[in-house]
Amino acid sequence: MSKKILLTGGAGFIGSHTYVALKDAGYEPVILDNFSNARRDVTDRLEIITGAPVVCIEGDVLDGNLLDRIFSDHKIDAVIHFAALKAVGESVEQPFEYLNTNIAGLYSLLGAMRRANVFTLVFSSSATVYGQPDQLPVKETAPRSFNNPYGYSKLVCEQSLEQIAASDQRWAFGILRYFNPVGAHETGLIGEDPNDIPNNLVPYIAKVATGELSQLSVWGDDYDTPDGTGIRDYIHVVDLARGHVQSVDALLKSGEGHVVNLGTGTGYSVLEMVKAYEHAAGRQLPYRIAPRRAGDVACVYGDPRLADELLGFKAELGLDEMCASSWNWVSRRKNF
Ligand code: WQD
Repeated sequence: MSKKILLTGGAGFIGSHTYVALKDAGYEPVILDNFSNARRDVTDRLEIITGAPVVCIEGDVLDGNLLDRIFSDHKIDAVIHFAALKAVGESVEQPFEYLNTNIAGLYSLLGAMRRANVFTLVFSSSATVYGQPDQLPVKETAPRSFNNPYGYSKLVCEQSLEQIAASDQRWAFGILRYFNPVGAHETGLIGEDPNDIPNNLVPYIAKVATGELSQLSVWGDDYDTPDGTGIRDYIHVVDLARGHVQSVDALLKSGEGHVVNLGTGTGYSVLEMVKAYEHAAGRQLPYRIAPRRAGDVACVYGDPRLADELLGFKAELGLDEMCASSWNWVSRRKNF
């Protein structure tokens, strides 16, 4: 009997790719999503990719009664919690929404899990909890901090899970610290699909490449980096999705929790990303140098070794595949 995995926010960018990876690995995923940052027809495209019906429930993790019904209707073995707000700049403008959705939403889910005797959870965390690390590549043992409500919410969630796990051995948490997820599934049927003007670099570049946006603003070229622009650890979303499967595998097998970076260990600058995307799209991408963006750090990339040691996870797809798959997705996207 395949094990059932509840994916909160499973219709989103990372959630939908994890849905495919879980099906490929023989799991039975169930999606819960309020579609605040996802299109409803993503489930139709997931059915095409997986060749099987998708079980998707529309609703919010803050709705405890709905969660109780889901756990009662489906024998859930583990949960992967993606449902959260994730734009740093927006979190500064809307702190309550970020704290309520990201922190109270996690607590609502944990309460429903406990009522249903389900104690295995993969939590979608972020390298944002490292702020600007003193040492690079950044290890999981690096000090954590925050400099915006989004980063604060992720830090509070991590610390809450640590407290709960320390008090009750039934809980097993996989805390996954993402670096910068980019790219798309090879079919070009699912990918990053921001509702409005993207905050993040690659979806913004993608819209410049399709002509939906006229020019990229490079937020600062006066950082202490080789070309002066910000450096990040970009990881292919298909690799990232596989990391979630390996996290669930490990939790269900051992019952032991883990906290790991999901990154490649390699950093690329903004201008390197522009060049790589120009190669993938076969066209020049107009950009201007603009002032630094508040809250940005200069350079962050992860030490990926612990995920390999504990989960056997290693990123396999490189920068060219990240950009080519993103370009394939945005080129197809306008047709549906
Ligand atoms: C990357 C680089 C920008 C846009 C955030 C969250 C993180 C994760 C990923 C959720 C930086 C530069 C960007 C643009 C630019 N989200 N940039 N022009 O800020 O590293 O991480 O998104 O988990 O938690 O903090 O990603 O893509 O916004 O920026 O020059 O139009 O691109 O300055 O150097 P970031 P990003």
